[in-house]
Amino acid sequence: MSAGTGAAIAQQQASQDVGAERRSLMRQQLQAVRAIAPVVRNGGDPRSVQQQAESLLTIGKRKLELFPPGSDRDDDRARPEIWTNRAEFDRIGQDMIEAAQRLAAAAAAGDRAAFQAAFEASTAACSACHERFQFPRR
Ligand code: HEC
Repeated sequence: MSAGTGAAIAQQQASQDVGAERRSLMRQQLQAVRAIAPVVRNGGDPRSVQQQAESLLTIGKRKLELFPPGSDRDDDRARPEIWTNRAEFDRIGQDMIEAAQRLAAAAAAGDRAAFQAAFEASTAACSACHERFQFPRR
């Protein structure tokens, strides 16, 4: 095996790992959203889901690092526009981080109104990004 082939395989391996990690984090975000949604709907105490709110913030920051150029593969749902329109991708990612920051703060403060508004902004960012940058299920 030539050194070039070895490097190509190593790179492919790395993009496999990064793809698996970002999808795993995305699923954790969905779990957090599912735990938080009923609390928002029923006007419950946001402090009871403070941990999930903080996890949205932590993951929101981390996941933007998990889309390095060249990490799209045929079997994933990452659209190539992520890499041709990175500024827009990062801007929506940043919107989500800021909403999650407000969400975690409102949870800590037990502020229901602020929590509800921040939750709507957080999930709006999920949808905005998926509409533009995630292929529908295939
Ligand atoms: C900045 C863009 C962006 C934001 C914000 C974002 N996502 Fe995603 N999400 C993606 C992309 C791109 C994929 C496809 C990744 C892939 O297939 O490798 C994805 C995939 C997913 C998946 C599918 C994972 C799998 O196993 O295939 C879930 C679930 C998900 N996101 C949930 C969420 C939730 C919930 C939020 C908000 C709290 C969110 N995402 C915010 C871009 C984003």
